[in-house]
Amino acid sequence: MERDIRKLISEMTLEEKAGLCSGADFWHTKPVERLGIPAVMVSDGPHGLRKQAEAGDHLGLNESIVAVCFPAACATASSFDVDLIHQMGETLGEECQAEDLSVLLGPAVNIKRSPLCGRNFEYLSEDPYLAGKMAASYIRGVQKWDVGTSIKHFAANNQEYNRMSCSSEVDERTLREIYFPPFEEAVTASQPKTVMCSYNKINGTYSSDNEWLLTKVLRDDWGFEGYVMTDWGAIDDRVQGIRAGLELEMPASGGANDARIVAAVKDGTLDESLLDLAVERILKVIFSYVDHRHPEAVFDRDKDHEKAVAVETECAVLLENNGVLPLTGSQKIVYIGEFAEKPRYQGGGSSHINSSKVTSALETAQAKGRNVSYVKGFPSDKDELDDAELAAAVAAAKDADVAVIFAGLPDVFESEGYDRTTMKMPACQDRLIAAVAAVQKNTVVVLHNGSPVECPWADDVAAVLELYLGGQGVGAACDMLLFGEANPSGRLAETFPYRLEDNPSYLFFPGDGKTVTYAEGVYVGYRYYDTKKLPVRWAFGHGLSYTTFSYGDVKLSSDTMDDNGTIDVSVEVTNTGSVAGKEVVQLYVSDQTGTPCRPVKELKGFAKVALAPGETKTVTMTINARDLSFWHKELGDWYAASGDYELLIGHASDDIKKTAAIHFTTAKLLPLHVTGATTMGELLADPRTAPALQKMMQDAMKNSIFSSEENLTGSESDKAMMEAMMTAMPLKSLISFGVMTLDQADGLIAMLNGLVQ
Ligand code: BGC
Repeated sequence: MERDIRKLISEMTLEEKAGLCSGADFWHTKPVERLGIPAVMVSDGPHGLRKQAEAGDHLGLNESIVAVCFPAACATASSFDVDLIHQMGETLGEECQAEDLSVLLGPAVNIKRSPLCGRNFEYLSEDPYLAGKMAASYIRGVQKWDVGTSIKHFAANNQEYNRMSCSSEVDERTLREIYFPPFEEAVTASQPKTVMCSYNKINGTYSSDNEWLLTKVLRDDWGFEGYVMTDWGAIDDRVQGIRAGLELEMPASGGANDARIVAAVKDGTLDESLLDLAVERILKVIFSYVDHRHPEAVFDRDKDHEKAVAVETECAVLLENNGVLPLTGSQKIVYIGEFAEKPRYQGGGSSHINSSKVTSALETAQAKGRNVSYVKGFPSDKDELDDAELAAAVAAAKDADVAVIFAGLPDVFESEGYDRTTMKMPACQDRLIAAVAAVQKNTVVVLHNGSPVECPWADDVAAVLELYLGGQGVGAACDMLLFGEANPSGRLAETFPYRLEDNPSYLFFPGDGKTVTYAEGVYVGYRYYDTKKLPVRWAFGHGLSYTTFSYGDVKLSSDTMDDNGTIDVSVEVTNTGSVAGKEVVQLYVSDQTGTPCRPVKELKGFAKVALAPGETKTVTMTINARDLSFWHKELGDWYAASGDYELLIGHASDDIKKTAAIHFTTAKLLPLHVTGATTMGELLADPRTAPALQKMMQDAMKNSIFSSEENLTGSESDKAMMEAMMTAMPLKSLISFGVMTLDQADGLIAMLNGLVQ
């Protein structure tokens, strides 16, 4: 059905138009019944439906409908599987249609700058490329059902501390390279129907007032076509919001802000056409849902529970294994830790799901008749250790063939709304793990957490399985993974540093309450650890399997590329073990051109491939100029210098199997304005000025102090020193050193500026 939305807008009163730009209540837009504009409902998100029938709140406090809790983003990102997250999105899209939800509030894609951010469990990765690909695929999945998504929180919302008022102080290069790309990739590849702006300020301006952010970057640069809504209560100056490109205020300000919009139009401080544009964008999304209802959609909670189990089996990351896993039926096994019967499987806050059922590893093992006993050991909700419980756990572990400790962070340790203050696990758990590992060499630790923890016992245990917050099917998935019915195939979407102090944001996080400075710049996560050569507990991309893989040679479709070109990078991967498994092939790019201030490597491709024992498959990933580029401040655009780049292909960021070299040539010219401070090096590096300068230098040097016998006939190292000094010399120094007169220098500068016009 074709709607004439502009005609509809022309029939709306000013008050109706202003009214449409804020919510009717916590979850609905306002209807305009006389014109057939219905109210539609939005709901959290992202990994299940938190549809509230009665009292609404944005903190997950009041009841919501019974729904299915899928693994949180910390887990799904670890699947490194765009098809899997697409399927999960499709399931959620169908659930939304069945429950009459027009927009699902997710995905949440803020970068994990610090392990302490309380909401990291809901975010995808420390790496913008991975987060972008996973988010774009999730959005395509949900929106296949004509349900909108709301990618959030745009932008630079990387901590919970004072999230509603704090200003994130970030330079543009860092925003463009690290904090924006997940949004950019999602918008350019999948057009989410809505974007949710963040609470915080960016460099002093609230996101909801920020025209540069909401219009220049989001719409002009990336081509966003949907509407922007506020995070709940993130409105600042409502009228400026309309000018900036903020369409919908959620939930609402009791009509006060609507009235301000009306007054601003009446007194001429707000152009009515801007309001009309906002209304048009909102109506388009409302009708794209209303006109595409799917009566065939069902919310089958049992079926979707099984899907949640299946997703989690692809997400869990096997961090360590000396061969103790998988477990076998003949072993006498003891499960220790209350998480075995009460798994922590989701985080607190607005994403909290009223789960239809929850499976624990213990009940699953019991239902399957496994030879498993259980000792509580420590509680799942607090840091408390009873000496008798500890003794019982140690005794049971000693008496068993294998001890599996179900550890993790209690709910209160991490949640939306506040940050962690430590990366440590509850002390009671560290103590119990150490005590059990001392008496049982086959000790396995299973982790339930939304963000990295320090694991001082990691070298003393036989295996570590990271489940993250694995959704309501976590116990069933865990059982399958522990006993080898499923082969772990997750990879870390974030680094586990040895200790919090190693994290690059450590000195600056979370700021002084008013501002937080992202002083580490683009060196976030492995970009920092690898460039700094700092050892970490488990690296980005790491994850083990019950099988082994080998890599063949890398084949390139070409080893040269220009601005518009692409290169296909292919590699053969073979399953060399005896069970089926999945490898995540990762492609990193390393700039070898000598461009300063670039991380040693950055992820620019990945592919998950399923292989039967002995099977070989060819994996192909494609790179383009953007994959080599950094954000060039003066150019105001992406730029990669001409020269050599290395492609690193392998199993993890710290396990590169193959490399290949390519040569890149750019036709892009950097802005250059020659002054007395411009160095010889800059002029020699620019193709427009290099020839003239070289000639001028040869002529001028003959008459200068540099022409002395000693300088001209010196050793190779003397010459190298001379060259280095010359490169760093600004034009104005030529006068002091008698190479040319002041007038000649002025003439030279004018001539060079003529060349770069
Ligand atoms: C959260 C959003 C959420 C909204 C609605 C806010 O507190 O930051 O992510 O979608 O509440 O519940």
